[in-house]
Amino acid sequence: MLRVTQANPDPTFINLGIGQPALNLLPLAQIQQGAQMWLAENDPSALNYGVEEGEGYLRVALAEWLSGEYGTAVSLSNLFISAGASQALDLICTLYSQPGDVVLVEEPTYFLALRIFADHGLQVVGVAMDEQGLIPEAVEAAVRQHRPAFLYTIPSFQNPTAVTLPAERRAQLVALAEQYGFLIVADEVYQLLGYTAAPPPPLASHSASGHVLGIGSFSKILAPGLRLGWVQAAPQHLQRLVGSGLVDSGGGVNPLVSAVVRGVLTSGAQQAYVAQLRAEYGRRIRVLDEALQTHLPQAQYVVPQGGFFFWLSLPEGVDTAAQLPRARALGVGYQPGRNFSSRGDLASQLRLSFAFYDEEALREAAVRLGQWYRQLAP
Ligand SMILES: Cc1ncc(COP(=O)(O)O)c(C=O)c1O
Repeated sequence: MLRVTQANPDPTFINLGIGQPALNLLPLAQIQQGAQMWLAENDPSALNYGVEEGEGYLRVALAEWLSGEYGTAVSLSNLFISAGASQALDLICTLYSQPGDVVLVEEPTYFLALRIFADHGLQVVGVAMDEQGLIPEAVEAAVRQHRPAFLYTIPSFQNPTAVTLPAERRAQLVALAEQYGFLIVADEVYQLLGYTAAPPPPLASHSASGHVLGIGSFSKILAPGLRLGWVQAAPQHLQRLVGSGLVDSGGGVNPLVSAVVRGVLTSGAQQAYVAQLRAEYGRRIRVLDEALQTHLPQAQYVVPQGGFFFWLSLPEGVDTAAQLPRARALGVGYQPGRNFSSRGDLASQLRLSFAFYDEEALREAAVRLGQWYRQLAP
């Protein structure tokens, strides 16, 4: 059989390194309904090149839905439709940086964002975080030293640490951006996936400052295969995105998918599906937490309140990258901490995701991780 999906684990192997939903969690019925709503309109517009800023009715529906979810008004004139967060980030790199420029990132950060920055020849400098996220004083020092093209941050339920930046620090970052004249690129793909409480309003809600480009995505709240997301920013930034050669030549991105997802939003199916995801992922967190406490008590972590990940710290001296083959031999996988470091650090950390596996598999994974850890003991 030819491969269709990115992750195809062997059924006997529980790979908690996979940070995406399993097929049985994906919203096939909701997409069918959205597609039928579009077909019933009998309007071929979505089959043509689209308008550069993104399908108008999707933007209207998205602005309305986000306003309710965020609790702060999101205006149509601040939204640009992208082909997912990765594409938005790539486009921002194209338009807002030159090869050799410095980008500030959290240490640790999303490892594939590091790949996008490498594609653009950017130099990445990690900035220290604590259990509340980026430390504003450390950002200020790094900005003074490096004069970055922009700061890339994941403020809510961060990948990989699950940490959320408090509202005061968000405001402090924006004040620093205004003071020093730098841009903040806020990757907020987990903003709507809080399981115990909503996080503070997104950094995107500071976009009127002109210093914040907020990136959102349907990948985590609906389906990654849609390749659909958005940028929330001040009109001068949207003009820049809309004026790019890529967007101009292609006529925006994904007009047909946009027309389908518009129906998912307006019918209320998106809202109901996010509620379902929150309940499901919240349950998985409780199960994995309990199983890790039982089987891997040596691991230290903060229980995630949202997002997809547990970030575990093992005792000094454990090299999680070097020990991955031993874990795999026991039928369990993870992402080694070093993958998330801009400077090859974080050897004794690892990331687990609960998005792909059900509760039973998560329990079994914790048992196998316990066996693995005992094997490492000298
Ligand atoms: C922080 C972060 N940004 C972006 C992405 C990719 O998002 P998209 O599918 O919208 O490109 C992910 C997916 O894992 C992520 O964790």
